[in-house]
Amino acid sequence: MTRDDVLEVLGVTAWDAPTEPAQSARAVAALEGGRVLFFPFLAFALEEGEKRFLTAEALGQGRKNISLDPASGVCQGSRFTGAEAAALGAMLERFGRQAEALVLALAPGYAGRLERARTSFRPAEIEDRTSSVRKDDRLLHVDAFPTRPTGGKRILRVFSNIAPDGVERLWRVGEPFADFARQFFPRVGAGAAGAAWILERLGLTKGRRSAYDTIMLGLHDRMKEDQAYQTGAPAAEVSFPPGTSWMVYTDQVLHAALAGRFALEQTFHLPVAAMADATRAPISVLERLAGRALA
Ligand code: SIN
Ligand code: FE
Repeated sequence: MTRDDVLEVLGVTAWDAPTEPAQSARAVAALEGGRVLFFPFLAFALEEGEKRFLTAEALGQGRKNISLDPASGVCQGSRFTGAEAAALGAMLERFGRQAEALVLALAPGYAGRLERARTSFRPAEIEDRTSSVRKDDRLLHVDAFPTRPTGGKRILRVFSNIAPDGVERLWRVGEPFADFARQFFPRVGAGAAGAAWILERLGLTKGRRSAYDTIMLGLHDRMKEDQAYQTGAPAAEVSFPPGTSWMVYTDQVLHAALAGRFALEQTFHLPVAAMADATRAPISVLERLAGRALA
């Protein structure tokens, strides 16, 4: 696999630029088809007073990321307080709004259905992170979070590299989801419905974990644990230089973040029914393999 197999390059230069219907159709087909939309000419512009946030010291003790909940406006994980914390929150909010404008410009069919979730700032160097295998995002995986079941909704993410010092963000991108799922689906159990109910009652999950969520977590873990797959499976390395942005369905695209620092990221959720082609959703792929509904 090469970079050209996994990236769809778009010449967009503004976050809210109107898109021609033909370009939009091409972008949505590529995105839903499991490619990474790459915007080499789309930078997130920092305001003068925001450059001070580009330091590893921005992180609070023991934190991996800084995150903003757009619903409450609460920004967590930084060591800043007072006016500085508010300015950092405002930067994340501006990035979140621009990311949302970009998604809706490219995929106008998502309007009214796209849910903006957390915005994050990732100042730390990825290479230096040490963690358990299951939490190690330097290994190929699809996104699935133990405490945040989606019930089949999509996870769409927009990233921007804002590093001030030329440092590229380096990813590996793996094979198509359907090819991966065919190999790994037989290795995961669907989990007991009773366990999902108990997790929800105990407050360990936000909402009830569906069979889909349990399978996705299983796929996430089995893939990270499989060293032969990690080293031998088809994958392409891609680098995202500072001043560039990219958009990807991370519940579908196998990805590993190998190196880099200072990225912004906005997460969205989208109901499968809002997709142009719902057959490409992970839940559709897995339901075909399972022969039954999973949510
Ligand atoms: C991930 O979603 O695995 C991490 C992506 C990144 O921070 O570049
Ligand atoms: Fe991930």
